[in-house]
Amino acid sequence: MVTTIAVTSEPADEPRVAVSPDTVKKFTGLGALVRIEQGAGLRSRFSDEAYRAAGAEIVSRAEALAGADILLKVRRPSVEDVKALKPGAIVAGMIDPYSDRDGLDALAGSGATLFSMEFMPRTTRAQSMDVLSSQANLAGYKAVIDGASMFGQALPLMMTPAGTVPATKAFIMGVGVAGLQAIATARRLGAQVTATDVRPATKEQVQSLGAKFVAVEDDEFKQAQTAAGYAKPMSAEYQAKQAELVANHIKNQDLVITTALIPGRPAPKLISRAMIESMKPGSIIVDLAAERGGNTEMTQPGATFETPNGVKIFGPLNLAATIAVNASSLYARNLFAFLETMIDKKEKVLAVNWDDELIKGTLVAKDGQLVHPNLATKTA
Ligand code: NAI
Repeated sequence: MVTTIAVTSEPADEPRVAVSPDTVKKFTGLGALVRIEQGAGLRSRFSDEAYRAAGAEIVSRAEALAGADILLKVRRPSVEDVKALKPGAIVAGMIDPYSDRDGLDALAGSGATLFSMEFMPRTTRAQSMDVLSSQANLAGYKAVIDGASMFGQALPLMMTPAGTVPATKAFIMGVGVAGLQAIATARRLGAQVTATDVRPATKEQVQSLGAKFVAVEDDEFKQAQTAAGYAKPMSAEYQAKQAELVANHIKNQDLVITTALIPGRPAPKLISRAMIESMKPGSIIVDLAAERGGNTEMTQPGATFETPNGVKIFGPLNLAATIAVNASSLYARNLFAFLETMIDKKEKVLAVNWDDELIKGTLVAKDGQLVHPNLATKTA
């Protein structure tokens, strides 16, 4: 039996799509039949013709879903759509597992085999399937581009016969995947870049990108990284020292990009109202942590506004999606790399290895039940 893969349009506020012509070709090469809802790729500049040329069938939404073995999504699908699939069908997407718990329970109740790409273990083998990285990297890039555009001044030092244009001072707070790309992008545009983080491993990474590392490097800093490579919440004492350092540094900065996150917690508040008030008029803060409450005391998630002292604060949601072509291409490759592990290449049939750590790590629901350990207690 041929494995059928359904791909449908996403909601109005989500321009990304779960397959690209490139991945359609790869799925087809594995013997699968990809059925895509008409126009699903248009907002990512993938035409129906391009999908068709890659081997997909372009059909109505209902035809795409009807009896499919697999549904590939960017966002969490509706229960109604999942019920149209084959019973127990595989559904993979960024299902935002910690939000709308009742909706998630209902989705589990539909009997689908549900995978949350956000739960992909951060191991070497899973790097090509890591949606958080692929999207955060693009968000880090776009934060600098948007911030530079809002700043309305040139970024590089320019020495011209008519005089010197000074280099813009950019400060990147949080040096994970997004922060590293923000540093690299700001450097390429000629800004003078400083960066901070609480994980000691980031110091060398910052320096290797030609930026200057600024941080409180005490004993606590030396222990701030968990075994999984993430930051720990810092003590009140550390936070006070960090705040003093940031307060002294930030008042001279033009463009501040914040990306600091701690898994499963609200974003740490690194920039106080007083610090913002000390900044120069025209300075920009792009807060990539806005989705998790923001790294500043004043961020309004989803909005851009100007403070009374003339600092613009931009708190974008889903910034990667504003460069949907790239975001969809990389996301589609992440999904393909994951799904490929579930298809027997010789027999060209679905063959899920339930013992695989990547399957176990991402499986959220099966046989009508939520199964992921992170979802054992109801939080939302
Ligand atoms: P993230 O999005 O959870 O956090 C962003 C950054 O904020 C981190 O660098 C974190 O240390 C920093 N941060 C947290 N609290 C802070 C504070 N109070 N002050 C300043 N900075 C603070 O991190 P992301 O981007 O998901 O990556 C975390 C780590 O995981 C990185 O070391 C990355 O290289 C690693 N990683 C490994 C992968 C793999 O092996 N497959 C894939 C992706 C990331």
